[in-house]
Amino acid sequence: MPVIATPVGNRYDHVSYLVSCPATGEATAIDPFHLDLVLDTARANGLAITQIVNTHEHWDHAGRNDRLRAETGARVLAPKAAAGVIEHVDAMLVEGSEIAVGERHRLRVLETPGHTMTHVSLLGEDEGVPFLLCGDTLFGAGVGNCGYGGHVGTLFATVDRLAAQLAPETLLYPGHDYLARNLEFTLSVEPGNARAQALLEPARARTLFTTIADEREISLFFRLDAETVRRGLHESAGLEPGAFREEVFAALRAMRDRW
Ligand SMILES: [Fe+2]
Repeated sequence: MPVIATPVGNRYDHVSYLVSCPATGEATAIDPFHLDLVLDTARANGLAITQIVNTHEHWDHAGRNDRLRAETGARVLAPKAAAGVIEHVDAMLVEGSEIAVGERHRLRVLETPGHTMTHVSLLGEDEGVPFLLCGDTLFGAGVGNCGYGGHVGTLFATVDRLAAQLAPETLLYPGHDYLARNLEFTLSVEPGNARAQALLEPARARTLFTTIADEREISLFFRLDAETVRRGLHESAGLEPGAFREEVFAALRAMRDRW
């Protein structure tokens, strides 16, 4: 696997990633948070970290670049829109930028604003199966919050675009493992969601990764037209039956913020 996840298991369930090339042993660290864990994982897999990519400017995704650079000499790649906020950047990322990981892998940059307005995600492929390193844009059964520099209407448009654009089998690699908590949220609005119920215990036991196809079943944010979701929101938040999809999305996000 070119993608190795390093879940921290701390209060915020941070997950950083190493994407590597089997031919050269080069690795790119995505949003490195727990540096000892990231470095130990690289060492254990015989990898040299030569690049750091930040998906957005939040401290827990971009705040440890300098320390990791000092340890490894890696170059830093970050969203162009975060220029001046993320410091000491070697290459700016915009929609369509390509990041080479050694010889075998490439990551394509998608601008995915909403959680913050600078946010990017990275689309790659492993033996024909696409994956998206999505930072704090999408989480298992959920989406990022918008309370720290984001905009809910923008996030709605981003999630809509990803849902339409990404292949159903695309694996999601988010910046935090919130799956179990998000499944509980899904079940609070939609108690009859059998797939969410079935995933809950496994998700509590270990870090699981979902696909876009999974999200269509377990994430309320992918099911804005579902009658059960709208009925649940009508009962709990007074949402009008004919609300626009964007209003359903914003109501869900506000509810999840308070939850
Ligand atoms: Fe964030």
